[in-house]
Amino acid sequence: MTPHIQEIPAHEAPMALLLLADPSEDKIRAYLPGSRCFVASNGVEMVAACVVKPMGGGIHELMSIAVPPAHQKQGHGATLLQWVIAFFRNAGAHQLEVGTGSFGYQLAFYQRHGFRVSSIERDFFVNNYPAPIFEDGIQLLDMLRLTLPYSGKAR
Ligand SMILES: CC(C)(COP(=O)(O)OP(=O)(O)OC[C@H]1O[C@@H](n2cnc3c(N)ncnc32)[C@H](O)[C@@H]1OP(=O)(O)O)[C@@H](O)C(=O)NCCC(=O)NCCS
Repeated sequence: MTPHIQEIPAHEAPMALLLLADPSEDKIRAYLPGSRCFVASNGVEMVAACVVKPMGGGIHELMSIAVPPAHQKQGHGATLLQWVIAFFRNAGAHQLEVGTGSFGYQLAFYQRHGFRVSSIERDFFVNNYPAPIFEDGIQLLDMLRLTLPYSGKAR
């Protein structure tokens, strides 16, 4: 069944779900005001959520995207990401950005949808989080910034 996607007020964003994508509730609470939240539902429950923040100059940053573990690997994340990409294209945005770890399936997930690596912020996850973050037993150190330009030109 194709999920129903809609925008909800940012203050109603599903915190427990967003924490799957970003372990810092303080960080999420800091970026929610001024951001836009989009959720996908299968009619029974929420199957995906994402938060996008306008950065000015037609640039929008995907701050988080998450799917509940029981619903992962069923295409919901890809469906919501494609929907959001189309939504901001239709709104006249110039570029979408996202920051993600330097390894892992998330990196492939974004690149599959047209994002390309534009820069690296070394030690981002060390300097910006109170505790070390591990994925697949490897400590996350550096953040890659990925961009998806709508104009065809990367920033
Ligand atoms: C990243 C995320 C949003 C992707 O959503 P999803 O609905 O699970 O992904 P999809 O079903 O649309 O599949 C996208 C691809 O990612 C792969 N994938 C998804 N979860 C995976 C996992 N845990 N391990 C390995 N691959 C995974 C899928 O196999 C699929 O690849 P394929 O097309 O080659 O089969 C979701 O896995 C998630 O919430 N992860 C935890 C939070 C997170 O890391 N968010 C991103 C922060 S940068």
